[in-house]
Amino acid sequence: MKSNDCSLEQTIPSIMVTDEKIDFRQYLSSAELTAIEQEVSIMATREAAGIEALKVVQQHRGWISDESLIAIAQCLHISSAQLEGVATFYNLIYRQKVGHYVIHLCDSISCHLTGYDEILEIIKQHLSIDYGQTTVDGQFTLLSNVCLGSCDKSPAMMINSTHYHSLTAESVIAILNGLSQNVEQAP
Ligand code: FES
Repeated sequence: MKSNDCSLEQTIPSIMVTDEKIDFRQYLSSAELTAIEQEVSIMATREAAGIEALKVVQQHRGWISDESLIAIAQCLHISSAQLEGVATFYNLIYRQKVGHYVIHLCDSISCHLTGYDEILEIIKQHLSIDYGQTTVDGQFTLLSNVCLGSCDKSPAMMINSTHYHSLTAESVIAILNGLSQNVEQAP
């Protein structure tokens, strides 16, 4: 798969999130609200459910827009700035739209010693994207990640929640092609 257009900047921009009023009960779906309240119920405070609430909404919408962030903050009775701090600290919360598959390529030391450079190059060439970018068809976003815990089987990457290790140029291409076909075949 080849494409030249890309749509996501690598660095997370510091978006000025205001505390503009959003009726969070109108904005968040009942499924989202129920799941958030479930998380709140097992925390000591509403504020402590910040990460889990972000994950709930991301699971439903794919990413966390400014409006989603404001609605979640209001639901948790905290400021948007406070929740933005949580969202930007946690690298699996996406504050920009991402592709159907998000590739987290490990760029820590063991992977660097065992072929990271080649794997990165293969992904970049095969998908025609760089770090922080999304293929024009919206299938893949490429991000870097710190150690994924598979150092003894490096190089490693995670795509959505699936871990891949002992990567070679051939296996990476096979993985990407396989995932691409899954999307194309989806109804
Ligand atoms: S350094 Fe890459 S998985 Fe640990």
